[in-house]
Amino acid sequence: MSSSAVPNPDDGAVPPPSLPSASPVDSAEPAVLSKNAKKRLLREERWSSNASERREKRKQKKAEQKVRRRALLEQGLIQPQRKKMRKSDIVNHNITVVIDCDFEDLMPLNKDFKSLARQIERCYSANRRSEHHLKLVVTSLGDRLTRTLEQKVPRYKQWDFQSTDYFSHYSAQKEKLVYLTADTPDEIQTLEDDHIYVIGGIVDKNRYKGLTYRRALEKGVKVAQLPIGQHMKLTQRKVLTVNHVFEILSRFIETNDWKTAFTDVIPKRKLKSNDSSAQSGDGDEDGEEDEDEDEESDEHHDSEVEAHEEENTKR
Ligand SMILES: C[S@@+](CC[C@H](N)C(=O)[O-])C[C@H]1O[C@@H](n2cnc3c(N)ncnc32)[C@H](O)[C@@H]1O
Repeated sequence: MSSSAVPNPDDGAVPPPSLPSASPVDSAEPAVLSKNAKKRLLREERWSSNASERREKRKQKKAEQKVRRRALLEQGLIQPQRKKMRKSDIVNHNITVVIDCDFEDLMPLNKDFKSLARQIERCYSANRRSEHHLKLVVTSLGDRLTRTLEQKVPRYKQWDFQSTDYFSHYSAQKEKLVYLTADTPDEIQTLEDDHIYVIGGIVDKNRYKGLTYRRALEKGVKVAQLPIGQHMKLTQRKVLTVNHVFEILSRFIETNDWKTAFTDVIPKRKLKSNDSSAQSGDGDEDGEEDEDEDEESDEHHDSEVEAHEEENTKR
């Protein structure tokens, strides 16, 4: 812009363009404005005259989002939104959750690796969103999972991951290890400080029943299942996906209440109708871990989480 085109507030001819009275249309004096300044004024005028239209559009979009969100909530496809977190609200717990990925040979399909990668990502994302942080570690990270993560989740490099197996990694704390598995009758009562809870990082549609149970026993590691049967009845066997198990632990740490944790995390379609209350799990069908359905619902979950996280970063 040339110096003659700069509006000079002292000569009274052209007030600053950001003030409403600055409009050359309103001014008694002929306006001395550069082309760019005029364009800017026009843009500003157009912007202010469209304000109510924009407000309406925003309102409508919000209302539509609300309806969509309520429908997803009702179907149990997403979790209720939690309040925005401040750093000072975060509690770092001295409880470790390990995702043991030592099962590459038992997962022939690429899609199972993609599924596992997505599930682990969801664990990290749930931990990040929670005010109660658990120490989350991936062990036995092998070549195929690494390749999948490189392609699908490049930010995995920020995670805590090890190529060594969990047992060697925590050999000095063996008595603190608890392998979580649906195949033992023993139920976990609480999450103990200083302990290390291991989740089998495998997507097997329950092809390998009792796999983690046997492997843990071979190593003399304690085993426990989640106390689901005490609080609710499922339509099928109580084998959950890796992320659901982690999210339950995370929610339990937040609320100190298993029932709330199960209700918030386990998809409603897995609950027996009219029964979400205490019952032993003996009557559970020996069904499959329905990861395909989970994946489908996860698509919604992903976009919701992304939208939510994006919204938070904008703020
Ligand atoms: C998809 S399951 C794998 C099932 C596999 N057949 C096995 O032998 O564990 C993924 C992991 O989630 C954990 N898990 C699933 N359901 C559980 C439950 N009801 N109680 C405790 N852990 C569970 C176990 O660590 C399991 O290895």
